[in-house]
Amino acid sequence: MTLRQAQDGAPSEPPADPDASAKDKALGWLRDHAFGLAIANLIANIGIVVTGAVVRLTGSGLGCPTWPKCTEESYVTHEALGINGVIEFGNRLLTYVLAAIAILVVVAVWKRGGTVRTLAIIIACGVPLQGVIGGITVLTQLNPYVVALHLLASMGMVGLCVWLLDDLRSPRRAAAPRSVRIAAIVTFVLGWLTLWLGTVVTGSGPHSGDLDSRRTGLDPQLMSHIHAYAVYALVAATLVTLWLGRKHAYVRRVTIVLLVIELAQGLIGWVQYLTDLPVVLVGFHMLGAALISAGIARVVCSVRARSV
Ligand code: HEM
Repeated sequence: MTLRQAQDGAPSEPPADPDASAKDKALGWLRDHAFGLAIANLIANIGIVVTGAVVRLTGSGLGCPTWPKCTEESYVTHEALGINGVIEFGNRLLTYVLAAIAILVVVAVWKRGGTVRTLAIIIACGVPLQGVIGGITVLTQLNPYVVALHLLASMGMVGLCVWLLDDLRSPRRAAAPRSVRIAAIVTFVLGWLTLWLGTVVTGSGPHSGDLDSRRTGLDPQLMSHIHAYAVYALVAATLVTLWLGRKHAYVRRVTIVLLVIELAQGLIGWVQYLTDLPVVLVGFHMLGAALISAGIARVVCSVRARSV
């Protein structure tokens, strides 16, 4: 009690807890920056697709020959494993960065509850799960089907991050008419078919991630053409969505963005096919694939109603 309070006879306030206010401030900051953190979440999940590409395209898939340890004796890479060990181990470490961002997002949106909270939790749980699938790719000596699952799971994470962003902040709108909604869903499904077929092409082609790992045994040229046919169907479905949704500003905007990514990605796909898969182009093709996953998720989100 201060001298003044003693003189006034006022009841004394409990002393402020400096720790509690620092915690409240930190929580307030996180809540205020929930959208920015969710963008960081998306960028990190796209980023790890690209660093994963670097692992595969530099032949570093077994740079750390085992999992969860890097070698039988150590959790970290060492000199004898050379640059491949550094690249693979570096990619493993990125999982912690992704986990940290995902946890911050969960904390930031916790109070909002509902779908936003559920999505943030699923994404945060997806990070260690992806770490485990990544570990299984190593333990199965880069089995092409497991490698494909690992990439497709990342594509799914990217889509979830976009859904979360759309729930956090996107224009108020009425649901698009049924025909537009169906066209958007068909676009989404064809997008996923294209992504999956792309992983089959990769699993049949030369960039396995390690010289000795097994391939699917399918003809890479034939699979490339089947993959490209799915792309044509995807582009056609996107054009139909654009045409049907032309009067809905938001649908129109996000569908045009998707179309531009598809055309750029298709061009990279053909050029890499015709030039014997130079690693830099394949890396850009993987970045493009992650952007396609984001784009199809955004289109499918854009056709639903948003009142808040
Ligand atoms: C929207 C368009 C496209 C998408 C979303 C897409 C997606 C993908 C994905 C996800 C992969 C697998 C990457 C990996 O597993 O590491 C891939 C690989 C591949 N894509 Fe595409 N792709 C598209 C267009 C094309 C086109 C038009 C061609 C032309 C033939 C093409 C040729 C290839 C080839 C040759 C590979 C194998 C690369 C390798 O062996 O590393 N892609 N694509």
